[in-house]
Amino acid sequence: MKVSSAEFVTSGTRPAHYPPPELPEVAFAGRSNVGKSSLINVLVNRKGLVRTSSTPGRTQLINFFRVNERLMLVDLPGYGFAKVPLAVKKEWGPMVETYLSTRPNLSCVVLIVDIRREPTEEDQLMLQWLRAYNVAVLVVVTKCDKVSKNERAKQAAIITRTLGLARDEMAFFSALSKEGRDEVWARIEALLAAGQEEAEESGE
Ligand code: GTP
Ligand code: MG
Repeated sequence: MKVSSAEFVTSGTRPAHYPPPELPEVAFAGRSNVGKSSLINVLVNRKGLVRTSSTPGRTQLINFFRVNERLMLVDLPGYGFAKVPLAVKKEWGPMVETYLSTRPNLSCVVLIVDIRREPTEEDQLMLQWLRAYNVAVLVVVTKCDKVSKNERAKQAAIITRTLGLARDEMAFFSALSKEGRDEVWARIEALLAAGQEEAEESGE
């Protein structure tokens, strides 16, 4: 996808804060510090559009970014980091679940996992939950620059097994080398097109 414009639209915690549901949305979910915001920045070719940080739990709101006046990328706060204050943790569940279960224009979710780690129970729960709600999912395995080719194959096997994925539900990525950028976009576009078709068939 050639990105000609990308801009921050708004951020919030509940439906009253969301922008009007006019464009198809792609939401990015995953563990805190896994690289969600970095992935979005690489996808839109803008280093600093989304704030990234080595401190986990940086993104605590739902952030909306409009791309090419055609779709919205939605950066969700990450889960699972022990040091995030309890008050923030308590809000995370309802905030993210409300978005994912009620947003009518949600087209697909990109679930991001770290190539070096076995998916956590929370990753598994998130995926099960998305499947139960019939949300189209792409799993992006990120930080691939941090491992060797051998290690990558080994970790990929662990990740597909733990999450119960088909190979074509997964893409490799690195925000550092930008490996996988085009593939991730192509997969997202395919999911958007499939969602569009479904909506037309059901007469929406
Ligand atoms: P929260 O908003 O806290 O949930 O984190 P996030 O998932 O948005 O992660 P973020 O993009 O802020 O990245 C976290 C840290 O990982 C930063 O220090 C990034 O520079 C680093 N990082 C992200 N992606 C990659 C990658 O592909 N390779 C390497 N080497 N580092 C990465
Ligand atoms: Mg973030």
